[in-house]
Amino acid sequence: MYKCINCGANSLRWVGRCPECRSFNTMEEAEAESAQPKVARFKKKPPEIPPVTVSDVRYANPLNRIPTGIKEFDVSVGSGLVAGQSVLIGGDPGIGKSTLMLQVAERLASGGRKILYISAEESLNQIILRAKRLKIKSETLFFQALNDINEALYAVSDGEYGFIIIDSIQRITTPRSDAAYGGINGLREIAHEITSACLKKNCGIFLVCHVTKEGGFAGPKTLEHMVDTVLYFDSGKRDSHRILRCYKNRFGSTDEIGIYEMSENGLSGVKNPSAYFTSERQPDSSGSVITACLEGTRAMLVEVQALVVPSYMPVPKRVCLGIDGGRVSIIAAVLEKKEGIKLSSKEIYVKIFGGITVQEPAADLPVAASIVSSYMEKPLPSSFMAFGEIGLTGEVRGVANPAARIKEAASAGFGDILIPQSNLKDVKDMKGFGNINFHPVSKLKKIIEYLT
Ligand SMILES: Nc1ncnc2c1ncn2[C@@H]1O[C@H](COP(=O)(O)OP(=O)(O)OP(=O)(O)O)[C@@H](O)[C@H]1O
Ligand SMILES: [Mg+2]
Repeated sequence: MYKCINCGANSLRWVGRCPECRSFNTMEEAEAESAQPKVARFKKKPPEIPPVTVSDVRYANPLNRIPTGIKEFDVSVGSGLVAGQSVLIGGDPGIGKSTLMLQVAERLASGGRKILYISAEESLNQIILRAKRLKIKSETLFFQALNDINEALYAVSDGEYGFIIIDSIQRITTPRSDAAYGGINGLREIAHEITSACLKKNCGIFLVCHVTKEGGFAGPKTLEHMVDTVLYFDSGKRDSHRILRCYKNRFGSTDEIGIYEMSENGLSGVKNPSAYFTSERQPDSSGSVITACLEGTRAMLVEVQALVVPSYMPVPKRVCLGIDGGRVSIIAAVLEKKEGIKLSSKEIYVKIFGGITVQEPAADLPVAASIVSSYMEKPLPSSFMAFGEIGLTGEVRGVANPAARIKEAASAGFGDILIPQSNLKDVKDMKGFGNINFHPVSKLKKIIEYLT
């Protein structure tokens, strides 16, 4: 019996492509579901706790956040952890999952909590060596090397730990011979058992999870449903940089990201992400425009670059990195139709620096400005930054949270802001950011005026 790890479809024989969801290489061997008669399997019984209403004070405790003190991590999980929270954390091999978990464990333990780090992949010797390298000293952080689910369950129920870290869930085995280690049914069962046990004891749990070649979590999708928070550890543009993204969070926003730098002493948060994304910018070069994009509630400056070159192909190339190609094509079409900039005979290359992907409409205006700047070979003055959405008639529309973007730009020394006209009323009374000059734009034409 084979089961698709993506959609759960069954197949009697192995197939390369799932007949249901059409994804490749997702069929894995699984035990057949039991064919017992349905009537005998369930029996009604009164639940331990009867239904309650919202006014029931016993359940009205506010969520007490537990900040780890690692600012970037707290940002990613939405201002700190919650007692009993279950977190799934994935990432490419060697990206630094174990390092991050050790550092988080240390910070949680230094707050006086009892923490258990279960290493199912590395020996005690290896993990202690790493802990020493990371200067971990807490006396309430315990290490254990084990693989058996029953031993892990014992630790949860009898250990009185505040948080337990399992590195990694794929290496925990069940003694049941039919659910082989790594098999999806076994994995689902293990994750279910361990998260349920933790929920009962109000013990927080971190499950480190392998990822597949395509970057998804290895194992059934249900693993993501079982936990409160799903984090994904990604590498940025440079080798030493890592980005921690939150894909699901029952206790906060999912759009927050944390940026880290890996060094011998472990991961440290990048204090000023805007400087990181724009540090290597060459001022006064045509085709480069700074914008502020929102990642959750935090604004970050990123550099948008465009290169416009003549094309000798019947269909000119449009290559986009870090931004949706469709969006760039729309902007190019609007520039051609409304402003008469002949882009249909040009190749357009657009790139967002820093290894992040910008999905916001606010990137439209900077993309348009960088394309026009490269087309005209005229740089935008280096004190300028821009944000705004572009409509198909060439109008520039307002975007969400202009104040946060301007604050970030002002703190990085950008004093001239190309801002959608409709956003101006929200921010023109802003004070305390030095001398900011607002340049309101309501039509794309205005951008061309600034460049000529
Ligand atoms: N002495 C060192 N100095 C600097 N960086 C180091 C050192 N030792 C290890 N690293 C970094 O730590 C990374 C390994 O981190 P870690 O073992 O936490 O990753 P992981 O995601 O848990 O890997 P795996 O998938 O194998 O469990 C290495 O890729 C390397 O970049
Ligand atoms: Mg590891």
